[in-house]
Amino acid sequence: MRTQVGIVGAGPAGLLLSHLLALRGIDSLVVEDRSRAYCEARQRAGVLEHGSVRLLREAGVGERLDRQGLEHGGIYLQFDGERHHIDFRDLTGGRTVTVYAQTEVVKDLIARRLADGGAIEFEVTDTAVFGLETERPVLGYTSADGTRHEVECDVIAGCDGFHGICRPAIPASLRTVTEREYPYAWLGILADVPPSTDELIYAHHARGFALHSLRTPTVSRLYLQVSPDEDLASWPDERIWEELAIRFALPGWELKAGPVLEKGITPMRSFVSEPMRYGRLFLAGDASHIVPPTGAKGLNLALADVAVLAPAIGALLRGDERLADAYSATCLARVWRATHFSWWMTTMLHRTPGADAMEAKLQLSQLRYVATSRAAATSLAENYTGYPDLPAGRP
Ligand code: FAD
Ligand code: DHB
Repeated sequence: MRTQVGIVGAGPAGLLLSHLLALRGIDSLVVEDRSRAYCEARQRAGVLEHGSVRLLREAGVGERLDRQGLEHGGIYLQFDGERHHIDFRDLTGGRTVTVYAQTEVVKDLIARRLADGGAIEFEVTDTAVFGLETERPVLGYTSADGTRHEVECDVIAGCDGFHGICRPAIPASLRTVTEREYPYAWLGILADVPPSTDELIYAHHARGFALHSLRTPTVSRLYLQVSPDEDLASWPDERIWEELAIRFALPGWELKAGPVLEKGITPMRSFVSEPMRYGRLFLAGDASHIVPPTGAKGLNLALADVAVLAPAIGALLRGDERLADAYSATCLARVWRATHFSWWMTTMLHRTPGADAMEAKLQLSQLRYVATSRAAATSLAENYTGYPDLPAGRP
């Protein structure tokens, strides 16, 4: 068997790459160890940057996003009993973000690939990549029916997330890992209740951070800072709503509670593995970098990586390696900007266990600066809506 590009992982990175390659007439095979239903239901991110929306639209997969996505022109920052609006449109010359769940991005991309005759194999096992230093790398996997395949490729794309097999296939001596774990996690819920707010609320509170996001006009997504070793069983729904109500409390405003559809705990880390290329293996998305979720950057970085990778692979297959050679540095510039922004948002808004009074005072001073200085607010708005902006035009 043979394909031009073997893609490991049917998350947003792998699926969009497969589609962008198809638009260039390049065939690919996506292998995924989970089921299609699992990939389509996995609750994760929800905020698309300005450039991510344009990218999906220009790639011809933005039709439902345009119909159902909720465009947001800002966020609220809440601290010290006050709620301040940060107006992205005003601060960035009209840029916005769009709330459209990662589950929906994944559904749209899978549907489009299958409608176009694209190859996605779900529920594979024993995925392996080898011959990466050669011009004919091999993608090995076992199909759900037990058949073993070894597929000869021109290029392999490692889009297999943080726990995948592609990053470890790069010799450790050739990789630099820069990493930080945070002493907190997020407990996230999906709730069958209309959002209590018109814009996302990022709340700093002495008991810990809280975030009010949304999914649709009738479904809300909310998060609470908890300890990384927190037991989900000790958080019955009533306790979650009580804690959310305390952290978002504001005179004259009420948090609407409702049935919890799903809940989970996500640890938080910053992680960057460099470079993002080894021979004919290119890493994209969480396979190469993780940010804490506070800046809503993880999904957007995954999409931005493959927007750079698709044309680089196109040129490589025509014998021009220049874009492929520049791939890692091009992506890492954006990755490090997002890594800084996510770290900054995270450390400004979360309570560090055991921190002294100085930390809370400095956080509050920084929050007030962002809420009152146009320059500071513009920096937040520019980064949140996406910096640098993705180039317009055919992805
Ligand atoms: P993934 O979406 O992880 O996709 C990788 C795919 O590869 C998966 O489908 C996986 O099953 C598959 N795979 C792994 N190993 C193999 C293998 N050996 N063989 C075949 N397939 C394999 N970001 C935000 O901005 N906001 C959030 O609220 C947020 N919440 C998150 C919650 C969780 C629990 C996690 C893990 C991430 C969250 N993120 C969030 C980050 C964001 O969802 C990711 O950055 C995004 O999914 C990255 O896309 P990706 O395609 O690179 O990786
Ligand atoms: C969501 C997640 C984030 O990490 C964030 O910063 C904002 C929104 C969400 O899941 O909706």
